[in-house]
Amino acid sequence: MKKYARNVWHKIFTIVLFALFFQVPIFYGLVKLSIVSCNVMPTLGSIHTFSPRRVGTTTPVHDATPDLHSGTGQKRDIKGSHLNQASANATAVNSIPASAKMQNLSQLRPHGHAHFTFVQFSSYRESPRVFFVVGVTSVVVREFDLPVYKCEWHPKPNRGEPLQPSKVTDAKMIYVYFDQMPRIYVVAIVNCTFEDDVGMGEEGGSLFMTVSAGPHPGDTEKVLVLQEQNDEAKEAMRKRDQPLPFKYAFCGPPMHGNVKAEWVLQWLVYHHYLWRDSVHFFFYNVGGITNSVRQVFSPFINNGLLTIVDVEDQKDYPSWYFNQLLFINDCLHRTRYLSSWTFFHDFDEFFTMSSSITLDKLLDEYKDVPYLTFGSLRASLWICTDVHPESSEWPLQRMRWAEKQPFCSAPDQDPWICIHGKGARKYVVNPRKVFAGGVHRTAIPEEGGVNLNASIARLNHYPGMLANGTTSCSFTVNVSIPIELLYQYAPSSQLYERDDSIPIQMGKAREFDAELLAAYL
Ligand SMILES: *[C@@H]1O[C@H](CO)[C@@H](O)[C@H](O)[C@H]1NC(C)=O
Ligand SMILES: *[C@@H]1O[C@H](CO)[C@@H](O)[C@H](O)[C@H]1NC(C)=O
Ligand SMILES: *[C@@H]1O[C@H](CO)[C@@H](O)[C@H](O)[C@H]1NC(C)=O
Ligand SMILES: *[C@@H]1O[C@H](CO)[C@@H](O)[C@H](O)[C@H]1NC(C)=O
Ligand SMILES: *[C@@H]1O[C@H](CO)[C@@H](O)[C@H](O)[C@H]1NC(C)=O
Ligand SMILES: *[C@@H]1O[C@H](CO)[C@@H](O)[C@H](O)[C@H]1NC(C)=O
Repeated sequence: MKKYARNVWHKIFTIVLFALFFQVPIFYGLVKLSIVSCNVMPTLGSIHTFSPRRVGTTTPVHDATPDLHSGTGQKRDIKGSHLNQASANATAVNSIPASAKMQNLSQLRPHGHAHFTFVQFSSYRESPRVFFVVGVTSVVVREFDLPVYKCEWHPKPNRGEPLQPSKVTDAKMIYVYFDQMPRIYVVAIVNCTFEDDVGMGEEGGSLFMTVSAGPHPGDTEKVLVLQEQNDEAKEAMRKRDQPLPFKYAFCGPPMHGNVKAEWVLQWLVYHHYLWRDSVHFFFYNVGGITNSVRQVFSPFINNGLLTIVDVEDQKDYPSWYFNQLLFINDCLHRTRYLSSWTFFHDFDEFFTMSSSITLDKLLDEYKDVPYLTFGSLRASLWICTDVHPESSEWPLQRMRWAEKQPFCSAPDQDPWICIHGKGARKYVVNPRKVFAGGVHRTAIPEEGGVNLNASIARLNHYPGMLANGTTSCSFTVNVSIPIELLYQYAPSSQLYERDDSIPIQMGKAREFDAELLAAYL
């Protein structure tokens, strides 16, 4: 027993020693370097753009002159061990061949990508004393430091009146742990909750954050994240007592690469019909919405149904799928007091439900839950109905076969209620009850919602439809072909059965939006 204990202590001692002498200095050194190289907190998105300072790989030696000024700025310490040793041993060194001489001056040469502590995207006032600031943080920096320490409220000084003191509170970080594939940046939401109301008088004011800017305590910078004009907060709070502007909102995934505008237009028409009472769509453009794509969406833009959020610089802060999670969380906070329900799914997914209930009834039934999730049923892209000479059917109206049961990658789960990513679930939230979300599930709160059976409501999924070069409808059949005949004729079609829900709704949606589309197409 004693021997065992001694062995354990010996091992722990060795590990600690190893960590101290190798891992910690090397790792911390890297992080220190990154943080020091970024003494400005960049803002991602619409407030102002920022290009991170890049340190070249060929920094000339004279750049490394010691900076003896105290305070902030970039400092490089060259009084390293090489220098001292070399001067003390000058005679010895001179007697060995030049090629073997130790360099008496050295430098650190950064390569790759600097890691920023916190990259702000958007800020929202939640209540008289609560604010949320949505952004991303480097996972490495976060391992060693807190991205944001404090939130401060500064009232705008009123002419003639004495300056009111500012209020300070600790920043609480919210990290989203679901659906974050390993990348440099992950979503971080800053929760600034003050003890008392702030900015609720007439004077307006500003919200600042104290962001970590270096490896030493006190290496911080104070950044402005939100400004309110006179009466702005009061007015915003007053509006909260009125009915919400929209019943539904939709938050789309980032649009990149080659956007299939006609397909997305079908998607818009379909969902506009589904949510016809009142809806607002938010699309996040990370380079896919070119002028010609925008033109296709113009009936929706010009009628106040669609907002396109242009984000040009997200690629400087690499995160999973073009920062999809950042935009999900931004949109969640953006729509908190805008819509009764906010949906988050993709442009190759079409919401559909059992004909025994309407969407309004279903959501009313669950009006007290924070969220509902939906399973995913894969449609066949290759079997389509014939093109009828007189018909003007859209491609989607000819895709009438879908898998017999919903997608589920967990063999032990009921595919009809297979949850989270395993069932490729997506969700709708009451945005006043949810504060953070992933792609396939919510993060705050994690529980308390309802995972609906896919036979009640689901997303019909056309996987691969948005990818470049996907061909659909390579196998066409008469619309009235009996299913047995289809199975006989094409045995691989036995995976599918007839599902007309989307084509039928699509036909009605086209009629519903005929006027809207006619004015532009
Ligand atoms: C000088 O160099 C020798 C070997 O090259 C080394 O043993 C000695 O410690 C060095 N002296 C100093 C002061 O660094
Ligand atoms: C370092 O080396 C350079 C050239 O090799 C030499 O001119 C300089 O005097 C050296 N500095 C010291 C402190 O030894
Ligand atoms: C924000 O912080 C306050 C104070 O710590 C806490 O009561 C509240 O639950 C937090 N909100 C969220 C959504 O984390
Ligand atoms: C599709 O192709 C375009 C240009 O050919 C390219 O820019 C884009 O990234 C591609 N998109 C995808 C999703 O591969
Ligand atoms: C979900 O619905 C399907 C089809 O109606 C049914 O077979 C299945 O038992 C249901 N699952 C649960 C857990 O209710
Ligand atoms: C499909 O078959 C029916 C008869 O079974 C026929 O009346 C109809 O014209 C066919 N449709 C097409 C598009 O060929």
